[in-house]
Amino acid sequence: MNRKDTPFICVRDLSVAYDRKIVVHNINFTVNRGDIFVIMGMSGCGKSTIMRSMIGLLPPHKGQIIIDGTDMWTADEEKRNHIISGFGVSYQSGALFSSMTVWENVALPLQLKTNMNISEINKRVREKLHMVGLDNCDDLYPSEISGGMVKRVAIARAMALNPHVLFFDEPSAGLDPVRSAELDNIILDINRRTGTTIVMVTHDLSSIMNIATNAVYIDINTKTVGAYGAPRNILRTTKNGEIIKFLKPNGGKHETTK
Ligand SMILES: Nc1ncnc2c1ncn2[C@@H]1O[C@H](COP(=O)(O)OP(=O)(O)OP(=O)(O)O)[C@@H](O)[C@H]1O
Ligand SMILES: [Mg+2]
Repeated sequence: MNRKDTPFICVRDLSVAYDRKIVVHNINFTVNRGDIFVIMGMSGCGKSTIMRSMIGLLPPHKGQIIIDGTDMWTADEEKRNHIISGFGVSYQSGALFSSMTVWENVALPLQLKTNMNISEINKRVREKLHMVGLDNCDDLYPSEISGGMVKRVAIARAMALNPHVLFFDEPSAGLDPVRSAELDNIILDINRRTGTTIVMVTHDLSSIMNIATNAVYIDINTKTVGAYGAPRNILRTTKNGEIIKFLKPNGGKHETTK
């Protein structure tokens, strides 16, 4: 089943805990194939925690994460590893390996996880760096490129293995509005050109309003879903003052157009 707009990732009654302290509970949402799906909410509400469970790093306290029909956490390890091998991730800390060049950072997953030869690896690395608009910085080290370029290299590295799903945690954090809008365009372009499903944690209102197809809002007070749907529909229909403030922080004076 590869058709766009069909359910791909179903999060069902998910609770996640650290040392038995439940951080989020009863989380329900569905990511459709081809979505740019945003997990949003105030700092500390549990966005990265939910993502950690979805990418196989943190087992749920309760509930299910069903990927293309398979409950990834009750599946055996081999099956779970197979599912996880279809994911590409860029983490909130975004860290590239500082002792490796841009080219080496993007090549690393290919060297570790495939039998590709050097010319195949080079072709793939070039293709991914080209997609994020970085054609001329192969030999530079992370300390020699800008913050925006680091983010783009991290995205290229997440794409290296041609994943079915890309997970980005705060890809535009720390970028100025221009770089952030450029990154939105890159993410939109990846989604449109490759059809890759994208799950993104972000606070960035322009990303939320301009590129997200669907979103879930995690309420920091109740620690569960406060709203779910297309961001503009959420804004139109919600009665929750916190969500309105989150999506329209200045009363909509600088609202994005679309
Ligand atoms: N490794 C951990 N051990 C214990 N508690 C943690 C751990 N990581 C996060 N938490 C707690 O879980 C809650 C949710 O954290 P999380 O990092 O998921 O929030 P977030 O929504 O991603 O926040 P931000 O927007 O600041 O990145 C917070 O109260 C945090 O203190
Ligand atoms: Mg986070």
